[in-house]
Amino acid sequence: MKILMICLGNICRSPLAEGILQHKANELGLDWTVDSAGTSAYHAGELPDQRSIQVARQHDLDITYQHSRQIVTSDLSNFDIIYVMDSSNYQNVLKLCKTAAQKEKVRLIMNEVEPVRNINVPDPYWGDNGFENVYQMLDKACDQVIKRYQ
Ligand code: 4NP
Repeated sequence: MKILMICLGNICRSPLAEGILQHKANELGLDWTVDSAGTSAYHAGELPDQRSIQVARQHDLDITYQHSRQIVTSDLSNFDIIYVMDSSNYQNVLKLCKTAAQKEKVRLIMNEVEPVRNINVPDPYWGDNGFENVYQMLDKACDQVIKRYQ
């Protein structure tokens, strides 16, 4: 499986999603490639946000190997599934899709936990304490992704 995690800046939510899912897949010996990107280039080249690095570390996960990048159109063919964090990411990624097959790959990640409810992973960037909540939501979602595709 090749899975791409998407948020706006690729510094808060999707780096956590990438790190959590890659770690779970590795622990199970699955040959999965997990990557992440942002719909924006606001933070291109930067490390994940310090608050994401810290919450990951509190759960024994190192995400400091990651650097922010913007999604590119080749991602839409290179990955099997593209998980987005919220409905705004969803609209932005759909606009880049050229075929029905590409659109079919784009999914809201929390629909893996609560199908069809279209729950967003809230953007924690402007707050102070949303990061543990984001971690818990993504940890649950990644468990479901593993169950579904392993
Ligand atoms: P992310 O959070 O999409 O989870 O990485 C954000 C990061 C940066 C900005 C917004 C959201 N920003 O506006 O710079």
